[in-house]
Amino acid sequence: HLRSGLTDLQGVPMTLSVTHRWDDIKNFSAHPDDLLIATYPKSGTTWMVEIVDSIRNEGISQEMRSIPSLMRAPFLEMNPPAPFPSGLDILKTMPAPRMVKTHLPFQLVPQSFWDNNCKAIYIARNAKDVLISYYYFHKMNTGMPEPGTWHEFFDNFLSGKVSWGSWFDHVTGWWDAREGLRIHYVFYEDLKQDPVKEIKKVALFLGKTLNKELLDTILEHTSFNKMKDNPMTNFSTVPPFVFKHDISPFMRKGTVGDWKLHLTVAENERFDEEYQRRMAATSLTFRTEL
Ligand code: A3P
Repeated sequence: HLRSGLTDLQGVPMTLSVTHRWDDIKNFSAHPDDLLIATYPKSGTTWMVEIVDSIRNEGISQEMRSIPSLMRAPFLEMNPPAPFPSGLDILKTMPAPRMVKTHLPFQLVPQSFWDNNCKAIYIARNAKDVLISYYYFHKMNTGMPEPGTWHEFFDNFLSGKVSWGSWFDHVTGWWDAREGLRIHYVFYEDLKQDPVKEIKKVALFLGKTLNKELLDTILEHTSFNKMKDNPMTNFSTVPPFVFKHDISPFMRKGTVGDWKLHLTVAENERFDEEYQRRMAATSLTFRTEL
């Protein structure tokens, strides 16, 4: 049973923004130089987009950017729908090389990306911090379904009955897909702990080398505090009837281990039990603190 606002898409609960024109998304025609930035929501999408953009522009691009999501219209759920161009429409006029954001689980990504041997960067973040961040995001983003009470949201997250489906399926699906494809798998926790090392790895994946000066500039520009104050990255330009920043800012905390300030001992035990059951068969491991 799905909460209102979510529709089943091949076994994955989805918001209307995706299901409404699923055929257009499924049949999306990728260019070989398209770069896919893929994440489960709240795992560092905006952070990685900013890193890649700074690397590609060899410093800081000053223009207002809109990196399109591979979904039709993010705010279609709203009544009346917010008049923002759809990701698919933006992509049509975007000059190459394009960067495309997506939260799609691996099995739902348009086949055309893989037929064209496109590169993809997947950012994964530990489930407990994602749970907390996703809850606040549901509260502040009127385009998301009502999260219900904290307890309801906690249960729905664990059982995968939230938008974009199960975190467990998402991170393991992309992990298993790496072989034979050009997928660079990054952990939010690693990026937080050693951004120099991780930014260099991303640059290498993109075929770029960074000198010390450029690396320092990128490091500073993509730090949480800089991004929190930057109107190009903090989503402050999204109208307040869509993003309620007074309830919770988009750039909320940007830390590892915030779950410790939220989960009770009992909730944490329940989470660990389900986690162990769902992750028993995978080689994929996460850190929940630094
Ligand atoms: P919190 O809610 O835990 O603060 P996404 O872009 O995928 O929606 O992810 C948003 C999460 O990434 C938020 O987490 C946000 O604060 C965090 N984030 C964004 N930019 C960051 C940065 N430069 N450093 C650390 N965390 C960042």
